[in-house]
Amino acid sequence: MSNLYGDYNQKIDYVFKIVLIGDSAVGKSQLLARFARNEFSLDSKATIGVEFQTKTLTIDHKTVKAQIWDTAGQERAVTSAYYRGAVGAMLVYDLTKRQSFDHMARWLEELRGHAGKNIVIMLIGNKCDLGSLRAVPIEDAQEFAERENLFFMETSALESTNVETAFMGILKEIYQIVGKKTLTADEGAEYAKSQSLKGTRIIVPGQESDSGGRGGCCMSSS
Ligand code: GTP
Ligand code: MG
Repeated sequence: MSNLYGDYNQKIDYVFKIVLIGDSAVGKSQLLARFARNEFSLDSKATIGVEFQTKTLTIDHKTVKAQIWDTAGQERAVTSAYYRGAVGAMLVYDLTKRQSFDHMARWLEELRGHAGKNIVIMLIGNKCDLGSLRAVPIEDAQEFAERENLFFMETSALESTNVETAFMGILKEIYQIVGKKTLTADEGAEYAKSQSLKGTRIIVPGQESDSGGRGGCCMSSS
């Protein structure tokens, strides 16, 4: 099927590419699995290379196809191809791992070095189901998000907390801010074809081994 049509054969008005970034094991792939397929796995394997999944939804009576890219958080800098054309980014840390939060500044710098100026960025503190092991106070994350002008939310892919809210929040924001300038469905289809993106897994050479308001919040450990 052509990329012009979504799950129910409706015409796609917009294709929005969103990239997931952050350290290994923070839960990027599980957040995506939860959002795209409502699945979760406790023994999820580290991602190899680059993958993406799509979900088609409606915003303001328009059909929007979210194309969400996921890659390995391990070691290396992500290549610029990963960021190309992205209109949204989720910077994910594990709120039980201080280091994964401390690395957010570096990920943000890399993101800003590669992505367009209008990209909508959301900081995500994942694993809020593990409240008793929290190593990143919500205030620290809120402060960082405010300073860097990012949206912020705490989530749990395991318990489904705020996952839909976070993805829908970023998508609505993209729709409002850059929707008019983003790929139309035709351009999106062409782009996808040219990149042979249709559900394929792309192995990047050298990596074969292994309510959305600004500063807004979360419902971690109520
Ligand atoms: P890389 O692919 O290596 O970059 O890691 P990743 O960020 O994709 O992490 P992944 O989604 O594979 O999750 C890593 C581990 O954390 C797995 O064991 C998941 O089951 C677990 N995990 C992910 N999300 C949550 C969550 O919300 N809560 C809890 N308790 N565990 C989670
Ligand atoms: Mg992964």
